[in-house]
Parts: sequence; structure tokens; C-alpha cells
Amino acid sequence: MKDSKPTTGTAGKERANDLAINGGKPVRTEGWLNWPVWNTDAEEPMLEVLRSGNWFRLRGSKVDEFEEAYATLIGAKRVLATASGTAALETALQVLEVDAGDEVIVSPYTFIATYNVVFNQKALPVFADTDQETFTINPHKIEEKISERTKAILPVHIFGLPADMDRIMAIAQQHNLFVIEDACQAWLAEYKDKKVGTIGDLGCFSFQNSKNIPAGEGGAIAGNDERLMDRCHSFHNCGRPYGKTASDFSGYPFLGGNKRMTEFEAVILLSQLERAEKDADLRLENALYLDSKLKNIPGIIPYKLTEGATKSAYHIYPLRYKKECFDDLPREKFLAALQAEGIPCSSGYEAQYNDGFMEEVLNSRGYKKLFSEQRLKRYREELHELPENDQLTREAVWFFQNMLLGERQDMDDIVNAVQKVYENRKQLL
Ligand SMILES: Cc1ncc(COP(=O)(O)O)c(C=O)c1O
Repeated sequence: MKDSKPTTGTAGKERANDLAINGGKPVRTEGWLNWPVWNTDAEEPMLEVLRSGNWFRLRGSKVDEFEEAYATLIGAKRVLATASGTAALETALQVLEVDAGDEVIVSPYTFIATYNVVFNQKALPVFADTDQETFTINPHKIEEKISERTKAILPVHIFGLPADMDRIMAIAQQHNLFVIEDACQAWLAEYKDKKVGTIGDLGCFSFQNSKNIPAGEGGAIAGNDERLMDRCHSFHNCGRPYGKTASDFSGYPFLGGNKRMTEFEAVILLSQLERAEKDADLRLENALYLDSKLKNIPGIIPYKLTEGATKSAYHIYPLRYKKECFDDLPREKFLAALQAEGIPCSSGYEAQYNDGFMEEVLNSRGYKKLFSEQRLKRYREELHELPENDQLTREAVWFFQNMLLGERQDMDDIVNAVQKVYENRKQLL
């Protein structure tokens, strides 16, 4: 989609008391900014790459250029571009030697890819409960999950909300564990003024179509350790040696795969970087405005930034919906009413560890060989011991990042719609 100005809503004075879901006038009838937004600067280099026939990174320079630009943007020593965020996480786990039979402590409140990448290493993702106020892993729940098999901690900066990195790094250091940051939704988010994804041993990003920096597909790994980053490069490029730390090698000395980014994706990303910081500032400004207004509505609890977090990326603007303040109106009815008022929203992640795919994995021949019956029994039991995460999946409400690229009036539409549903909740009971 071409850049189009966000439309201005019709909130305020014209509000009717009847809820739109019951036939009343909606707070807002105009749409929202279409995402992704492309700019014409991408056209010429895209055509150049197309006409050159140099479409993959080993015959072009765009991926290299993007890696340098992204490293500068986030203050990382090195960045490796990958085919996706999933590919970035898989590469990071592989290079940090997360192996079959290992355990990785993971945040349960995340996109399913975070679980999948651990399972793909034939390791166990061991969940430490979520802190429902911050939506991120509760660091106080991590140590009790550490076993002799634990190899790494995989915190997720979900929606761009930074996890408590000081505590996580201290625990990792004390127990000799690696930290892989899942920053797949957290471009330019900051913890103690450092960009997230640059704090742990390795940090992973996604540039999939819906993301704040989109390229259809794509990902990146950030890191400050030359050897680790050289190994990531090798692994993502079929095991070919790469960099100064591999200068003694030739042929295929390492295990590898193909997780490379294309030149086309890099062209799109380079053109997206131009607007990334400006967009991030606007999302932040609008999110702070929403915080200040929404918190005054009973039963609406906006996210809280963890101590030390200085900036969120707002891939999602999240809040918790307390139905007891809405005369027990179920969240689904609240969301449907809000949507009818012209406000896109979602209930977000489910307690997906109950979805069945975990059983498929745990019952597989491989897992039965790798883990004792006793361990798998305890693991299954522990999936029912995530009370805060379970509650969060029942109460969360999401607004989307493109909505935060609007003007003050657009934010007022969101606030007015929530207020209207609150005031007229009895119409829904
Ligand atoms: C938290 C999180 N981790 C990992 C991923 C995987 O990224 P990708 O879709 O680029 O493979 C995503 C993407 O949606 C994500 O949101």
C-alpha cells in the first residue's frame, strides 16, 4: 500500500448513546492506516536488483548494506540478516548449542514460533509464568524452573515491551546460561536506554509483513561477539566458513542450513528504515496519550513497563479487561461492541500450550527417548501451573500498531469508543 494519511474520525459530540452493535451510530466510520506502507524510493533499487539477476546475497550487496544499517540503527556490533524471525531464532539456538534433550526457559505469552524453535532443536521449552502487569516473563519465576538440563533463557519482548533484562542477565550469569532475546516484535525498544536485542548473547528480530519494519518475510540476529556472529553466518549459509574467527577453515567445516535473506527483501527493508524511527516516536507519543486516558475508565488496565524499560515498540497496544467492572460482561462481547464502534481489536494469544500440538511432540519417539517418563509427566503438570499467563489470555485486549500511527483525534476515537461501551454496558447484558 502506498503511504496514505490516516483518516480522521468522527468521535466526540456526534456520539449516540445507542451502541453501534445494537444499531446506534458508531464512534468511527473511517478506516485506519493500511499496513504496510511502501515508498517510491524502493522502486528504482528494486528494479536494479531485478534487472541485474543478482537476487541472492552472495551475488549482491543489498543484504550486506541492510545488515550494516540495522546494526547502526540498534547499536549492535554485528547484525546478520535471515529469511525470517523463526530462522533467526533457530540459528541463534543452534549456534549457542541448544541441543537435543536440553531445556530452555521461555516466556509463555508469545507467538507460537517461540515455542516451535525450541522444539525444533528437540529441546523442551520450559515456561516461567508471565507477569500479567507487564505481559513479559516474571523473572522471579525463572530460577525455580532451572534444572541440570537448562541451557538458555529465551525472554520475549512481547509487543515491544522490554522484559526485565537486568534480572534475567543476572540469573543467567549465576547459573551459566545463555540468553537469547526474542525481539521479533521489538525493533527500537529500549531497556535502560539500550536497544533490546543487543543485551543478551544474541537477539532476534522479524520483518514479516505485519511487523513495524516489514519486508514480507525476513529476520535478523544481533550480537556483539565476533565468533558467535561468524558462526551464525556460517550456519545460515550452509555451513560455509565466515569471518576472521573461521579463517583457518575451508570447505564445509560446520553444520548449516539455508536461512538467507534475499536481495529483494533487503531493498524493501532499507527503504523501510527511513521511516522506522519517526514511526516509533509517533507510536510512543500516541501510546502515552492512550495510557493517560484509558486508565481512567473502570476495568481498563493498560500495560505497565517493567522497571528499567525505557521505551516500548508498540507492535500491539495491550491492556487488560476486567469484566467485573463491566457487570461481568464477557470480554468477547466487549470486543464485538468495540469493533462495531469502528475500533479494530483482538483478544490475542490463547493458552496455546493446551492446543494439542505439545502432546504430539511429547508423545513422539524422539522425546520419549530424550526425556524420562517422570520428566515428561512433571512437564505436563507444569503446563497447568501458569496462573498469571492463563488469566492474561482471558483478559487481554489488543489494539494494533498501525492504529498508533494516527493523529490525536484517532486516539480519541479509541478512548471514546471504550468509554461508550463502558457507559452503555447494560445494553449488552
Ligand atoms: C514473538 C515472535 N517470535 C518469533 C516470531 C517469528 O518471526 P517470523 O514470523 O518472521 O518467522 C514472531 C513473528 O510473528 C513473533 O512475533
